[in-house]
Amino acid sequence: MSKLLVVGSISTDFVVETKREPKVGETIFGETFQTYFGGKGANQAVAAARLGAEVEMFGAVGSDVFGESLINNLKENNVGVEYVQTVDHLPSGSAFITVVNGDNSIIYVAGANDAYTPDCLFQNQQQLDMLKRSDMVIVQNELPQATIEKLIDQSNQNRIPVLYNPAPARKITEKLMEFITFLTPNESEFQEMFPGQSISEMLEKYSNKLIVTLGQKGATFHDGDKIVTVPAIEVEHVVDTTGAGDTFNGAFAVAYMEGQSLEECVRFANKAAAVSIQKLGAQNGMPTKEEI
Ligand code: RIB
Repeated sequence: MSKLLVVGSISTDFVVETKREPKVGETIFGETFQTYFGGKGANQAVAAARLGAEVEMFGAVGSDVFGESLINNLKENNVGVEYVQTVDHLPSGSAFITVVNGDNSIIYVAGANDAYTPDCLFQNQQQLDMLKRSDMVIVQNELPQATIEKLIDQSNQNRIPVLYNPAPARKITEKLMEFITFLTPNESEFQEMFPGQSISEMLEKYSNKLIVTLGQKGATFHDGDKIVTVPAIEVEHVVDTTGAGDTFNGAFAVAYMEGQSLEECVRFANKAAAVSIQKLGAQNGMPTKEEI
């Protein structure tokens, strides 16, 4: 079984469905409210575990009621939590999400996710062994930047492939670009990371490395010869796109670890993402292989 290490955020999502966004100073009626399990790191870990990978998670939660159920949820989804830390000085991470016609907007409050500083990484030999035994590492941007850089550096030293999902967007150095195997921004993250650059130019510059996800249009990369765009699967009734990108990344990692070609990985990830947006909540719609 392929072994995946996911280092990232673990949060509770507070989700309101509403017909439109309120204007400044306005109060409007929402349709529904519910809490869901979220956090880009936890979402990607669950997506990969549902698809059959052996997944271990590194991250932090607060010592509050949310923290306990966030850890239980990971366990129930067969994600290893031995190295997830519980901290007292910050509340568990949270995200405040409005869903309008299936599309979401998110305010993320890092809380305990910010406590996952570089010192937390590889505190002991077991943690380092965990990295060395992994077939791939995934990381996103809901943790402190210094932690991400240390993780990528260690992974590179140990020749472990890194999938870096730069969400929310942050600028990236050439050095970090060299160390990662895949970078998977969506279109708006791409614009923030590479201001003034065209997608096609950057795809060619970072061929077989940069994969830009295009929502309903699918995902695109350069195969060293030409640009390849793999169309998304059409979905009749989109319920909630929250977590679609996370499902894409988790599924991509699973296909990559199984030795599939880049195009096959993207095709598989597109399929998983299409299934995932048919239920409310980031993790609820994430499919198993059979469901795909
Ligand atoms: O990618 C979706 C996730 O990002 C949500 O689950 C929420 O936690 C946010 O941070």
